[in-house]
Amino acid sequence: MVAPTQFPSWQALAAHQQTLVDQHMRSLFQQDPARSDRFTLSAAGITLDYSRNRLTDDTVTLLLQLAQESGLAEGIAAMFAGDTINNTEHRAVLHTALRNRSARPVPVDGEDVMPTIRATLQKMRDFVTAVDEGSFVGYTGKPLRTIINIGIGGSFLGPKVVSDALKPYWKPGFDLRYVANVDGTDFSEACKGLDPETTLFVICSKTFTTLETLKNAEAARAWFLATGATQADVQHHFVAVSTNTQAATQFGIDANNMFDMWDWVGGRYSLWSAIGLPQALVFGMDVFEHLLAGAHAMDEHFRTAPLGENMPVILGLLGIWYQNFWGAESQAVLVYDEYLKDFPAHLQQMDMESNGKRVTKDGTAVTWQTGAVVWGGTGTNGQHAYHQLIHQGTRLIPADFIMPLRSHNPITDHHAWLFANFLGQQQALLEGKTAAEVTAELLAKGMSEADAKALAPHKVIPGNQPHNAMTFTLGTPEVIGALIALYEQKVFVQGHIWGINSFDQWGVELGKVLGNAVYKALQSGDTVGYDSSSAALIERFRAAQD
Ligand code: F6P
Repeated sequence: MVAPTQFPSWQALAAHQQTLVDQHMRSLFQQDPARSDRFTLSAAGITLDYSRNRLTDDTVTLLLQLAQESGLAEGIAAMFAGDTINNTEHRAVLHTALRNRSARPVPVDGEDVMPTIRATLQKMRDFVTAVDEGSFVGYTGKPLRTIINIGIGGSFLGPKVVSDALKPYWKPGFDLRYVANVDGTDFSEACKGLDPETTLFVICSKTFTTLETLKNAEAARAWFLATGATQADVQHHFVAVSTNTQAATQFGIDANNMFDMWDWVGGRYSLWSAIGLPQALVFGMDVFEHLLAGAHAMDEHFRTAPLGENMPVILGLLGIWYQNFWGAESQAVLVYDEYLKDFPAHLQQMDMESNGKRVTKDGTAVTWQTGAVVWGGTGTNGQHAYHQLIHQGTRLIPADFIMPLRSHNPITDHHAWLFANFLGQQQALLEGKTAAEVTAELLAKGMSEADAKALAPHKVIPGNQPHNAMTFTLGTPEVIGALIALYEQKVFVQGHIWGINSFDQWGVELGKVLGNAVYKALQSGDTVGYDSSSAALIERFRAAQD
């Protein structure tokens, strides 16, 4: 493959960046009143205003040239066509097929996967109906109303965002909790006070080999049996979503209560599959299918819109612009929506597990930066925490601001205040405050010239901090589906241009293997082969157990 740094556009972007170093976005807006119109896109219910970035028309032209030189259009087509783009695991990447609402067939190894996807959706619908209507009940005949999602990583983070975001659509009487961490506190707190007779555990694990999930599933079974239920009753309270039916059967799950997954769905892209069953149980299959429809709408936009009008493409290119040409190292995601509070955590897995790679698809070490450090949280809370560093710190931190224009909970004037802060922060990031402005203000308040001079440097805010504004009318299932899909495709765009495989995750394996070995050492006390620090930590842990 050709390194992206070898593309003419890469060299041109590096030179072009130099011409913008001394440009302030304030002046870009002053010179060009139509800037916001030109740099705003809408798709699938989401509007992206990217005018508040360090860019001009030339920048966009060069970034699009980079996309073209990398063969992005062909890459997008290859993913949707089911090509084996996950080359290290020899797999297609088809989370898009899970939400394909069209009649278009999607072939894998010559076979259309859409019939099996539709059959699984129907099985989910039947199960949700059975739980709702009481034909699938607990072992004492009581309806199942508390759902426990046992799973981690992609079997937890994305699903949690979906159920939180769509809380206004939950059916009355249902509760959904999550157990992910192997820290026993997670299980204990989630199950505290629950009635086992009305509790349904959904074991969500693509592989059914993940340590945390297996330990928590075992804990759940032991908790359930300790209440007087028998092994035969397990099938009324445990269902599984996995590709590994054998392991799920061995655990005690009835084959009828297993829901299929496929190896062409990556864990962090799996919320659209039967991994979404716990969420569908609490808000219903219709809502789940609306979620799929929203994601499909974004996919269709991504698949067919010209690169320059393509929201995931633009978002991906902007990230590349800052990470590769301005030296930014992180990407903040600032959600002005309490329902989306865990969206940054989901993006951390989606983006950092996908694009945290140091070799290209052919195994050559990269000489350019790849995935950014993704972080963030909710506004306005973040304004009283880390926004200070974005406003006045020394690092360049591009930020995505995300907000619904209407609230599901419109109490008094809260939402107007939320929006006022959403925009106020962006204005501060854009415009900042110059030394002259600060000094004039201080003098106007009656401060002496000497005091104003001393204080002014502390109050200067440089502004010119790049950010995107993403808005939508209301967090409906369709919009939430589109928003998550938008970021998935952004990650794809970046991985494609960087020439890396965004769909494997070999880096997480070593820690798992070494963790298993440490567990053995904790039991045996044999620390031979460990460095002195590790041996001491093992000893300290063992000593603390007595
Ligand atoms: O963290 C590694 C990983 O494999 C993720 O990619 C995945 O989402 C998570 O573990 C859980 O895997 P599983 O669904 O197979 O239990």
